[in-house]
Amino acid sequence: MPTPDTTLICVTGGAGFIGSHTVGNLLERGLRVVVLDDFSTGKRENLATWLDHPDLEIIETDVSDGLFAPLAPVVTRRGPVHGIIHLAAQTSVIRSMEKPLTDVRANYTSTVQVIEYARVEAVDKVVFTSSSAIYGDVTDLPVTEAAPPTPMSPYGVHKRASELHLQYGSQVLGLSTTALRLFNVYGPRQDPSSPYSGVISIFLERSLRGEDIVIFGDGGQTRDFVFVGDVAWALTTACLNDKVTDKVSGLIANIGTGHAITINDLAAQCIACCDATVRVDHHPERPGEIRDSVADITRAHKTLGFQPQTTIEEGLRLTADWYRGQ
Ligand SMILES: NC(=O)c1ccc[n+]([C@@H]2O[C@H](COP(=O)([O-])OP(=O)(O)OC[C@H]3O[C@@H](n4cnc5c(N)ncnc54)[C@H](O)[C@@H]3O)[C@@H](O)[C@H]2O)c1
Repeated sequence: MPTPDTTLICVTGGAGFIGSHTVGNLLERGLRVVVLDDFSTGKRENLATWLDHPDLEIIETDVSDGLFAPLAPVVTRRGPVHGIIHLAAQTSVIRSMEKPLTDVRANYTSTVQVIEYARVEAVDKVVFTSSSAIYGDVTDLPVTEAAPPTPMSPYGVHKRASELHLQYGSQVLGLSTTALRLFNVYGPRQDPSSPYSGVISIFLERSLRGEDIVIFGDGGQTRDFVFVGDVAWALTTACLNDKVTDKVSGLIANIGTGHAITINDLAAQCIACCDATVRVDHHPERPGEIRDSVADITRAHKTLGFQPQTTIEEGLRLTADWYRGQ
């Protein structure tokens, strides 16, 4: 890639939770950024810090309709796109089961559109946000990338199909691609308002309001929660890998912390972090939920130098502080 100040990175879904942190990370590294977002769940206010930044452009568009038309005027003004970080997605597993045909468009067609743009325009690098949902209910933990993918929802199936399309792009088209399988991401700007939201955003928001917390199942299920700042670092680092010395072409890697926490412990930590005195109620387990999930992050460490910097205590504190300010 050229020098940072002349490098243009396209971030699809850049107005969303993880996307906005990724945009911030890229701008801090001195890169130029164009966001493509349809604002279905993303918000302009997620990018409030940088709205007047001269190196940021935001375009409202549905990426499953293609990237050529929305990016053409930007390319005329600023030159070619060097990298694409593709986060735009329908992110609810439950909604993917209710509307699989809508999901295939948002979560697979959009990826094919990204690869097609990269092929035609010779984009240096494509990075895709895959998900731990591609694994299904594995028992051999921590889960490595060698585990056979057995997704249990259209969301997981379409994430896996997207990974395969990236591999086709890398192996057949000669593109440089990386798919990062994100585990449970949390942090400031995660939207707690939807029933599909991340559990930490819901637990913190309810604790701060003094409302009781609901846990589905016995709360002994475990997850690997990774702070959004660490995820944004991994995405931008994977994208900026120099094509000449590219060690991560065709890479698929887990992004988590390698540490599991039970939902009961998490609820207790969220309540303590907010100095709240709310109760925890247990409701029947939700169908299709996996029991345990924790990432083996050896591959991301070896290839990207990925090492999560934010402990769960620190991450919860930063996130609670942000919700307090809302
Ligand atoms: N949050 C997590 O824990 C997690 C875990 C694994 C993977 N991921 C993946 O990370 C990515 C970002 O997730 P997030 O948590 O920030 O969710 P989010 O909903 O905040 O972000 C998704 C963004 O994509 C935009 N978008 C959706 N469909 C679009 C389309 N067709 N065209 C243009 N923009 C579109 C939305 O408006 C939003 O800004 C997604 O691909 C998601 O599947 C997230």
